[in-house]
Amino acid sequence: MQKDRAPLAQLPTPLHRLDVLSRAVGADIWIKRDDLTGFGMGGNKVRKAEYLIADALRCCADAVITLGAEQSNHVRVIAVAACRHNLACHLILNGVNGDGSFRGNLLLDKLAGARVHRIGSASERRGAITALVSRLRESGRTAYVVPVGGSNAIGAQGYVDAMAELAGQLAALPPRPTTVLFATSSGGTMAGVLAGRHVAGLDVGVMGIRVDADEGAAEGISLLTRDAAQARGASYSCAPGDVPLVADYVGEGYGVASAECIQAIRQVYRQEGIVLDPVYTGKAMAGLIDLAHKGAFDGRRVVFIHTGGEPSLFAADASTVDALTRPAGQA
Ligand SMILES: Cc1ncc(COP(=O)(O)O)c(C=O)c1O
Repeated sequence: MQKDRAPLAQLPTPLHRLDVLSRAVGADIWIKRDDLTGFGMGGNKVRKAEYLIADALRCCADAVITLGAEQSNHVRVIAVAACRHNLACHLILNGVNGDGSFRGNLLLDKLAGARVHRIGSASERRGAITALVSRLRESGRTAYVVPVGGSNAIGAQGYVDAMAELAGQLAALPPRPTTVLFATSSGGTMAGVLAGRHVAGLDVGVMGIRVDADEGAAEGISLLTRDAAQARGASYSCAPGDVPLVADYVGEGYGVASAECIQAIRQVYRQEGIVLDPVYTGKAMAGLIDLAHKGAFDGRRVVFIHTGGEPSLFAADASTVDALTRPAGQA
């Protein structure tokens, strides 16, 4: 599969210990810095984009269409990756907290020269894609559609690679039972991690902290894991009931930062100088901290995959900014 990669990321990303946070929560916490993949402000989506853009080029596309929420990190990375490879890029965006101003990820989408098509809600996505694909075809273009979050078996290959990378890094540390923990939403990262753990023969626990409520997530990830492994010639599957998802930290839903998420962002910035975001990594870290306090990682090493997403911090809505800037301890 490696030959199907269009390299964009700075790899390997660092793995290092979070000493102050570890002391504060009484656990052995490490961080895999996928926020530092480097291209287009980094994050997990760069690993996926390397495979998706390579596939678009293989299909002789001259335009890429993708979709997501207005502050989608995936959309930001595809926009600039397409641009780098001289592919036109069209983004179908629905607003979450959007006020229409060009902030955060949306500013970078525009900086990459992407065409933005706004829709009212996610339910309009399918119709919008179909219409756009045929409009582009009529004007002589060949469009390649990248799914939400870049989460198909092709995009997931980026995390199959990431697990091989992590296996090499962990092999250089003293052996210790280890849990790999990260934010999960559309599931491509989780599918790649599960398939990659199998392919790399890596003996670690996996825990995906959900950032949105999606009843069908485990079924989707189960299928995607099988397909991602198959693309590497491996026969591996993970039954929906065995997909290691934790849904206790979703709070009020996607894009709504819980009080614990705000506290986690504040704590990790003050103790480690690392920026988390209010949609994904803040919630995942809130889960890690709570579980650590409850003793869930006693005797284990935890590797938090920092999946990026910082640009959305700079597009946070007024109530999130208010909560982030309120003195700690004040409700
Ligand atoms: C910063 C960040 N972390 C985690 C995720 C979750 O990844 P996945 O959609 O592959 O589950 C995303 C997805 O958009 C993301 O942007």
